[in-house]
Parts: sequence; structure tokens; C-alpha cells
Amino acid sequence: MGSPKMAAIIVVAALLMLSPSQAQLSPFFYATTCPQLPFLVLNVVAQALETDDRAAAKLIRLHFHDCFVNGCDGSILLVDVPGVIDSELNGPPNEGIQGMDIVDNIKATVESACPGVVSCADILAISSQISVFLSGGPIWVVPMGRKDSRIANRTGTSNLPGPSETLVGLKRKFRDQGLDSTDLVALSGAHTFGKSRCMFFSDRLDNFNQTGRPDPTLDPIYREQLRTVCATQQTQQPRANFDPVTPTRFDKAYYNNLVSLRGLLQSDQELFSTPRADTTAIVRNFAANERAFFKQFVKSMIKMGNLKPPPGIASEVRLDCKRVNPVRAYDVM
Ligand code: HEM
Ligand SMILES: *[C@@H]1O[C@H](CO)[C@@H](O)[C@H](O)[C@H]1NC(C)=O
Ligand SMILES: *[C@@H]1O[C@H](CO)[C@@H](O)[C@H](O)[C@H]1NC(C)=O
Repeated sequence: MGSPKMAAIIVVAALLMLSPSQAQLSPFFYATTCPQLPFLVLNVVAQALETDDRAAAKLIRLHFHDCFVNGCDGSILLVDVPGVIDSELNGPPNEGIQGMDIVDNIKATVESACPGVVSCADILAISSQISVFLSGGPIWVVPMGRKDSRIANRTGTSNLPGPSETLVGLKRKFRDQGLDSTDLVALSGAHTFGKSRCMFFSDRLDNFNQTGRPDPTLDPIYREQLRTVCATQQTQQPRANFDPVTPTRFDKAYYNNLVSLRGLLQSDQELFSTPRADTTAIVRNFAANERAFFKQFVKSMIKMGNLKPPPGIASEVRLDCKRVNPVRAYDVM
């Protein structure tokens, strides 16, 4: 009683009782089980970028949409199984989301090198880092050790913000996840690459908010460029680059665009143009200082990547990111 030895036993016992999701994520999580993981992912993402210049954008968006629904647990990747899995991919905010094929390629490569070890949730997290890095953005060490859930939460996709959301709504949805105004502005900086379908901003071009006029916070020259892009007949739905200046580079141009009223979505421009908003000064700071943006982006990505599933959800390292494992051998988070 009270001896150092007894104290040590209690500490060890307490550590053993930690369930996987309560355990802290660690950059060394795969240091012995899959030390080559970053290189495997780097190869597949670099290869994907050769034929698809939106590959990086698609991957980081998947990670964001994963983390905002029941935490970062790979739940977004589960496909529909009637009566069993109500896929998040059928939730309106995930309509038309892309990049799952790239995730499958990464997973296949990782499985052949380190079978049954690396979760799909971790693959999304590290793929996002490598996507940002390969696009000219910062490099950081990603905390790892997430598990994949055995359930999806389609109704939970209403946690995701929409393109016509006002700043109040954006802030609330981020605050619900423990993310503040600075995180909101920094993470929105991911709209420095990738594209949006015209249907998400076309209301801003003509009849904004039922006013019969364009969005007054949209630069008229940019507006005409967008009109041209969206009028082009294509086999697929027309899309516009989020960043007209450096569409595939991860840089601070997104913020300079906002300052010159060239944000693509209403939700982007709100960050700068909402009167008396605390976010305006943050946008100006990042527009002036790429190092400040990169530094905060890394912090906010780690914070978002730490979002945990609710307690009690069955978890595992999924072998196929699209489906739960057949064998019911899993832990409870
Ligand atoms: C702040 C609220 C946000 C809203 C309202 C929003 C909304 C959207 C919308 C409507 C699209 C276009 C989807 C399509 O055309 O199918 C999009 C694309 C994208 N989003 Fe967001 N987003 C937000 C935050 C984020 C965050 C936090 C990230 C990542 C950290 C992110 C990363 C991306 C990327 C990279 C794309 C382009 C994907 C592609 O080219 O396929 N977004 N977003
Ligand atoms: C689904 O997500 C919602 C919103 O975050 C949450 O309230 C609910 O508890 C979740 N359901 C499950 C089964 O995890
Ligand atoms: C849209 O119009 C409503 C009603 O006139 C107004 O309350 C709201 O602030 C407007 N939203 C934007 C983003 O201008």
C-alpha cells in the first residue's frame, strides 16, 4: 500500500485498460508494423496525380467528410448494404464525392506490404498530408492509430457544412466539432485546389438569395469567367477551379482570392466579407503570410484528425475500406 511498486502496478493496469479510441494517436504507431507506410502512400498518390490533377483534393476532402461524422473512423468509405449499412455516401453532403477508387488503390498497396495493420481512417489521414505536400504545401508528422468503425451514420452527414451556409452556420458546425474560427479559416484554405460543380455556386451569378441580382461580394470579372465555365457544354457537369490563379497548388492564393472578392462558394467569401466578423482579420493575415497559414493549417489538420468516434462503437482495422470485416473479431472503441 502506497509503495512505489504498488503505484507502478496501478499505472500499468490503467494503461492496459485503455481501449483503442481512448489511446492517444501517435506518430510512431506504425513504426514497427509498417515503417514504410508514408513511402507506399506517397507512391500511389504521386501516381494518381499523373492522370488526375484533382487526386490530392479528392483525398483531403474525404478525410474532412470522414472526421465530421462520428469522428475520423473511415465510416464515409462504407458502401450501402441494405438493412445493415446505411451509407454516408447517400447523405446529401456526400453526393458525387470522389476519390474512393484512389483510397482503394492505396489500401491495396498498403495491404500487400503490411497486411491487416493500417486502418482506412489512418489511410485517409496520411493521404491528406501527402496530398498537401505533393501539391506544394507543408509537411507534417501525422498522428496515427485510428480504428475503422463497423457502422456508418448517414444522418450524421448533416454535421457537414453546405456551400450556401452563412458564417454563423459555418462557425456553429465547426464549434460542434471543437473547432474555432481560426480552424475554420485555416481548414477552408484546402479550397486552394480542386474544383466545385457549378450547381454549388450558380445562385451567386444571377439571383443571389432571391434578390434578382448577383452576389454583391462576387467580383464582376470573376463572375463572368464563372458564367463562361458553367455555360460550356460537357459530358459531365461543369466544374470550376476553386483557385483560378494556381488551381492545383497548395498555397495561400485562396486567401488573396477572398480579399479580391474571388471566393468560389458563398461559404468561402463569407469568411472575408461578413461585416464585423472575426474571420476577416484571419483571412487577411493568411493572405499576407503563407508561413502563418501553413503553420495554422498543420495545427488545425491535426486537431480535426483527432476527432474521436462516440464511445461504444465497434471498431477494427478494415481489410476492404468499403466493407466491414466478415469475421466478427473486433474491439469496442
Ligand atoms: C467550411 C465549409 C466547407 C464547405 C461549405 C465546403 C463545401 C464544398 C463543396 C460544395 C465542394 C464541391 C463539391 C463538388 O463539386 O462535388 C467542395 C470541394 C472541396 N472541398 Fe470543401 N467545403 C468546406 C470545407 C472544406 C474543408 C475543411 C476541406 C479540407 C480540409 C475541404 C476540402 C475540399 C476540397 C479539396 C474540394 C475539392 C474536391 C474535388 O476537386 O473533388 N473543404 N467543398
Ligand atoms: C450520428 O451522428 C449524430 C450527429 O453527430 C449523432 O448525434 C448520433 O449520435 C450519431 N449516431 C450514431 C449511431 O453514432
Ligand atoms: C438573404 O436574405 C434574407 C432575407 O432578406 C436575409 O435575412 C439574409 O441575411 C440574406 N443572406 C445573405 C447571405 O445575404
